[in-house]
Amino acid sequence: MKILAIETSCDDTCAAVLENTRVLSSVISSQTDLHQKWGGVVPDIAKRAHLERIEPVIAQALKKAFNLKGKNIEQIINEGIKLIDLIAVTVGPGLAIALSVGVNKAKEMALKYDKKLVAVNHIEGHILSNLVQNRSGLPKREIKFPALTLTTSGGHSNLVIIHQIGKYEIIGETLDDAAGEALDKAAKMIGLGYPGGPIIERLAETGNKNWMELPRPLSHHKNFDFSFSGLKTAFYYQVKEFSQEKINQNLNNLAASFQNAVFDSLLIKFRKAIQRYQPKTLLASGGVMANHALRKEMRKLAKEVNLPLFMPPKKELNTDNAAMIGVVGYFKAGRNEFFKNIEELDRDPRAKIA
Ligand code: KG4
Ligand code: ZN
Repeated sequence: MKILAIETSCDDTCAAVLENTRVLSSVISSQTDLHQKWGGVVPDIAKRAHLERIEPVIAQALKKAFNLKGKNIEQIINEGIKLIDLIAVTVGPGLAIALSVGVNKAKEMALKYDKKLVAVNHIEGHILSNLVQNRSGLPKREIKFPALTLTTSGGHSNLVIIHQIGKYEIIGETLDDAAGEALDKAAKMIGLGYPGGPIIERLAETGNKNWMELPRPLSHHKNFDFSFSGLKTAFYYQVKEFSQEKINQNLNNLAASFQNAVFDSLLIKFRKAIQRYQPKTLLASGGVMANHALRKEMRKLAKEVNLPLFMPPKKELNTDNAAMIGVVGYFKAGRNEFFKNIEELDRDPRAKIA
């Protein structure tokens, strides 16, 4: 089955073409440069950029997948779409006006070219990003159920039990900020750019992670929820007392201490959830999981509990992409979960996976 997948839930305009779970092409047009000077994603700017880019990005994905040369955007779409069996699109959660762009485009194409369509949840996309394969069908991974997954990015931090593909149980989520959001906000406080996660990662490499004392919110609670706003506030009040010179001289220590507190909080709950739910496979994904220090700690933990751990095999599968949306589409199609009345398809900014 050939799938065209579309993802516009935040600030990346993405399209991918897959043959089942194998990626034939994946195009990501990042808007980081547009939002950087505002220190975060500006919804109106995101919407405009998605509108400008969605067709060229889809055309590029089709062109690469099917080797369509020397044609204009319209010709590529007209020709490429004939080879597609299914359109998969993210309907939520995410920024409403950003989601609309992808949803409207998918709807328009499904109606115009008479294609089947599936509506995809963005978080399920992140979870199944671990099953995305390259053209040669690698990696080959088999999830044993129940599985436990930690998905953490700029918009969400979730602990989810996967009973089977398509059947999820959320056991923990953030009560306030997501882990990536906390990293982005802390970076902003000490004058670093956007998005803060990767900048903090680079600085932290030479820093002392115990330089500052920071809390690990909710770590003693029995439940599996996260909270990062208290940590962010504790960081803010300490940094406020520092001179600009002290901040500048200790950017690496500040970054390492904050990052360590965020990751510790994630790892404490992940460990507790393993003990409580006895999963057979561990999975981790989302933008924050691109961080090498966190990946290393996750691997260490998996080894300790003697369980297989899957993390996205490529950096660009951690952050937002359409390949992961296509994989969800593939499994939904296998269960016959097509969206019936395509005219009625709508964005769902607060969509839940369970
Ligand atoms: O999954 P994603 O692209 O978008 C959302 O769905 O939110 O995740 C973006 C988030 C941002 O908060 C960014 O700072 C964080 O992931 N991030 C990282 C790294 N790369 C991206 N955080 C820590 N280390 C990284 N290397
Ligand atoms: Zn995401």
